[in-house]
Amino acid sequence: MLKALKKSAGVKRLRKSMTYSRLRQLLPMREPGYIDDRGQIEDAEEVRIDWPAGLAKPRVGIVRDHEEFPRWTKYRRFLETNGFPHDLYDIHAHDWIERARQFDVVIGLASNEINRLEEIRVKYHFLETALGKICYPSAAQALLYEDKSLEAYITGVCGLPFANAIISHSEEDALAMIEKARYPLVSKINHSSGSVGVELVRTPQKARRIVGQAFSRKGRKTHIPWFRQKGYVYFQDYVPNDGYDIRVLMVGRMAFGYYRKVLSGDFRASGMDTVEKRGLPEEAIRVARAAQRCLRVPHLVVDMVHALDGRYVIIEFSIVCQVQTPEQLHVDGVPGAYIVEDNGDIRFEKGRYWVHELALRQFLWDEVLPRVRETTAKASSGC
Ligand SMILES: Nc1ncnc2c1ncn2[C@@H]1O[C@H](COP(=O)(O)OP(=O)(O)O)[C@@H](O)[C@H]1O
Ligand SMILES: [Mg+2]
Repeated sequence: MLKALKKSAGVKRLRKSMTYSRLRQLLPMREPGYIDDRGQIEDAEEVRIDWPAGLAKPRVGIVRDHEEFPRWTKYRRFLETNGFPHDLYDIHAHDWIERARQFDVVIGLASNEINRLEEIRVKYHFLETALGKICYPSAAQALLYEDKSLEAYITGVCGLPFANAIISHSEEDALAMIEKARYPLVSKINHSSGSVGVELVRTPQKARRIVGQAFSRKGRKTHIPWFRQKGYVYFQDYVPNDGYDIRVLMVGRMAFGYYRKVLSGDFRASGMDTVEKRGLPEEAIRVARAAQRCLRVPHLVVDMVHALDGRYVIIEFSIVCQVQTPEQLHVDGVPGAYIVEDNGDIRFEKGRYWVHELALRQFLWDEVLPRVRETTAKASSGC
């Protein structure tokens, strides 16, 4: 009964409202803890890396995450399968710098909570620049994670089909821009997921109210009681679409993905538990691949809508997303991946993979191996 109620569109909409999110956090909640799903993840294919003989394998420190569907256990599985020396790395402890000395490579994102993300951004920057470690995600990628403004700036440079966004850190400028804008707009805050920080703005009056609050002394309330939207606004053109958010997960040249249906009576799909798994349009895969190549990241999750004018328009992207199963793509009910060939052809291959394992392999391949080769060559030439 309660489950059925939770699944109804009205209740889902309510749960995505700011008031609910704020109130919910005043009630008792399970404290975040580490989940170890070893024993439940073994039925996916083993992901193997062809590490050249004669080159030392790096020592990898794993930063654990608090996710319900953890990433760190998949990273560990990959490192075990491929015989990489590794250990858990407590980056949160006071002696994190000392502890880092035993590793060449540090991997993992502790959490998408703002405070944790800030911590990781700073510490990975330090590990990279002061200690010469290689991090995944890199500090630059961690900066991109959960920052919708930075995403928009980057897509602009890359010429990707991104929904037009007005981002302003000036109240005066923002007020002028919203007078010229076409409505509806979609207001977003930088740090949010599952649709909670995303709202439809139908009129200039509402846009003015948002600007006024965001530039007020206290800033604008958000779904997180201690966090405010302050000193900036982000308005995106609403893209009329076919009622789905299409998510493409790129890892190297492999593509996975699925559809999320917009909740009835709402315009948002993210976090609504409305996933549909079926074949993806080639054009959507090409858009995602172009984004990944432009960003030069091992793994990229690209969310887009199919606009009524036929275009696939990116509304946001992320360097990582929640992955619940090793089946992130189904074509005619068969789990697998699309492979994007060098000549642009796209073919389907069946298989069940943990995307995080594939992402780690790609990172080692693209970013760590060249560095190991370089160091080995220098050492053998006596430089
Ligand atoms: N510009 C837009 N036009 C149409 N629908 C949008 C637009 N931006 C977001 N949406 C809808 O709102 C949902 C949440 O927005 P998104 O930017 O993806 O935020 P979140 O980080 O919460 O997933 C999307 O899944 C999509 O259905
Ligand atoms: Mg989204």
